[in-house]
Amino acid sequence: MQKKEQSQSKTVFIRTYGCQMNVYDSERMAGILKPLGYEAANSADDADLVILNTCHIREKAAEKVYSELGRLKKLKIAKEKQGGAMTLAVAGCVAQAEGHEIVVRAPQVDMVFGPQAYHRLPEMLARSARARGDVLETDFAVNEKFDRLGEMRRADGPSAFLTIQEGCDKFCTFCVVPYTRGSEVSRPVEAITAEARSLARQGVKEITLLGQNVNAWASAPPSECDGLKILDNDDGSWGLGQLCRHLAKIGGIERIRFTTSHPRDMDDGLIRALGDEEKLMPYLHLPVQSGSDTILQAMNRGHTGEAYKALIAKIRAARSDIAISGDFIVGFPGETSEDFEATMALVNDVDYASAYSFKYSRRPGTPGSVMAHQVGEDEKNQRLALLQALLESQKQAFNARQKGRVLSVLLEKDGRHAGQLIGRSPYLQSVHVNAAQSMIGSIASVRIVGVTPNALTGELLKEDEAVA
Ligand code: 5AD
Ligand code: SF4
Repeated sequence: MQKKEQSQSKTVFIRTYGCQMNVYDSERMAGILKPLGYEAANSADDADLVILNTCHIREKAAEKVYSELGRLKKLKIAKEKQGGAMTLAVAGCVAQAEGHEIVVRAPQVDMVFGPQAYHRLPEMLARSARARGDVLETDFAVNEKFDRLGEMRRADGPSAFLTIQEGCDKFCTFCVVPYTRGSEVSRPVEAITAEARSLARQGVKEITLLGQNVNAWASAPPSECDGLKILDNDDGSWGLGQLCRHLAKIGGIERIRFTTSHPRDMDDGLIRALGDEEKLMPYLHLPVQSGSDTILQAMNRGHTGEAYKALIAKIRAARSDIAISGDFIVGFPGETSEDFEATMALVNDVDYASAYSFKYSRRPGTPGSVMAHQVGEDEKNQRLALLQALLESQKQAFNARQKGRVLSVLLEKDGRHAGQLIGRSPYLQSVHVNAAQSMIGSIASVRIVGVTPNALTGELLKEDEAVA
């Protein structure tokens, strides 16, 4: 497929039919498109994007639209012949009423969307550009992405990152990633396995599989399959759970983690693996962003607060001690104090072991940046402080619960004090322990004896002590 760089300055022509409501909607669409670099064109002839904002109220209105589409088709073909392009969209009530019928009758149309979907225009434009093979501004070609990772990297310590997936198709309305990093792409099993083996040969004990949507990873099984029969997906492809089981067989690899996961891609195969694959660590970063269904919908998250909580319950049923971590945004446009309270309630219900929380920030080109009812800075600060206090108290309580337990700790590096090493617990907590430097790279049984704000302190188990 031929790839074409999108130019930064683009033009849009919106033809409005019908009522005042449509006039208002057309202005809204122009407003949404402005941060994407779309300036108004005087006519369809000099526009990169033409939107017919249609009206269904009078008889034959749809027919008028089809005849206009016929005229635009000729224009589109003429532009393409000259090496140009034109995106053709049908919006408004005819789009709502006729939907797919329009694409069947007028295949030159690239996008059809009703009034409920205007806020998703940037997402639809990005999807349509990707479908044509266009390269979005900061996107780069798929293979090149992974080539750049340098397959045989030098390991730096006993814990290493390994990228298995890039890009995102989720289009959360606050986020730039789907525009900047392109669509979801999974690295093939063979390449991942080769890199994991190479890391293991260099003494790596723990690998953290990375991806913007890591649990959307899917790939064909390797050509030399190692007899694993459980297939995650209906089509016989492998999902992340299966990949983890596969990598767990590599000699030397003792621990596997992955980040970041999306609730929508948390499939049963992965949950099963979290339950019974011993090398998968009991820690899951599963962002929810908000506890309010209104805000989750405005964020285009594709799940409710209840669905998220049900998912957490299912994961905990598979692995009861799992440490749950999350990301939160406060002050998304339209967030009321009730919405914020719903986030606090969700946090109380879930009980997080750790979390990251942010004030909403307007990112140009994202739908959220042009949404009405942006929340004031003071409000955001107050909400963030309340949320962070709650999350911090949960984190401290989770850490305190480890006191007295014996945890396996991967000793990673020298500590600040002489004779001290720093390692990680299965739950990703930092653990400070007095041990010989020669123990760096080993997994030790450590009794947790103290808790500081950012770490646990522990003692190596004496040889005659049994591991709990
Ligand atoms: N404003 C605030 N936080 C954001 N994040 C992503 N985009 C924004 C934004 N515009 C946060 C989300 C995401 C994390 C990596 O960064 O919580 O999960
Ligand atoms: Fe994708 Fe995550 Fe950004 Fe949502 S927040 S669009 S899932 S990268």
